[in-house]
Amino acid sequence: MAGPTTEFWQQRFEKNETGRDRGSPSPQLLAWLDSGELQPCRLAVPGCGSGWEVAELAQRGFEVTGIDYTAAAVEKTRALLHGRALKAEIIQADVLNYQPTQLFDGIYEQTCLCAIHPDHWFQYANQLRNWLKPAGSLWVMFMQMIRPAASEEGLIVAPPYHCDVNAMRALFPFSVPNPTIELTHRWQISRIPPKVRSLSSGR
Ligand SMILES: C[S@@+](CC[C@H](N)C(=O)[O-])C[C@H]1O[C@@H](n2cnc3c(N)ncnc32)[C@H](O)[C@@H]1O
Repeated sequence: MAGPTTEFWQQRFEKNETGRDRGSPSPQLLAWLDSGELQPCRLAVPGCGSGWEVAELAQRGFEVTGIDYTAAAVEKTRALLHGRALKAEIIQADVLNYQPTQLFDGIYEQTCLCAIHPDHWFQYANQLRNWLKPAGSLWVMFMQMIRPAASEEGLIVAPPYHCDVNAMRALFPFSVPNPTIELTHRWQISRIPPKVRSLSSGR
């Protein structure tokens, strides 16, 4: 399996080397919530890390499932929820294999994709698609991490892996035949540019 392992992330948490952890929910998530674009629903948060977004969503009435394969992340998220008397389902699982028992209305993806080696991106994108109900929506920010060694020498450097916009379009294309359900699955980018994109899927 290419890329970082759960042991890698566990060490990051143990050594407090979680530099991108703001200690609070993402401003973009708050913007989507405050604008009413993202309404309470059954929502998955893959790679939930310390759980700031899970707690915010639970606080605002979402039925949230946080998924992370690292023990420290799961413990931190559960402790945060417990400390605030909030409820959410927190599952320790690899997002590349996890199968929900019930499909989701939405997925909030924040820096899990960029933590996964690009060799596994199609598998991950398929997973996200299969977790969603028909016409479910994916709320995502694509980490822009341009690195000379990657763009000039073709090396795979990271995490975080650079989520090039063209690569993201290849991952979440407008039309994907899905032989399993004998339907065509479509990702529709609902708003471009600005710095943030929200994708919705319809079958
Ligand atoms: C860069 S951190 C982001 C954490 C959080 N989303 C945030 O924005 O602060 C990546 C997280 O994804 C988790 N992760 C990475 N690959 C994963 C996988 N294959 N399955 C489940 N969790 C994964 C790591 O354990 C880590 O908690």
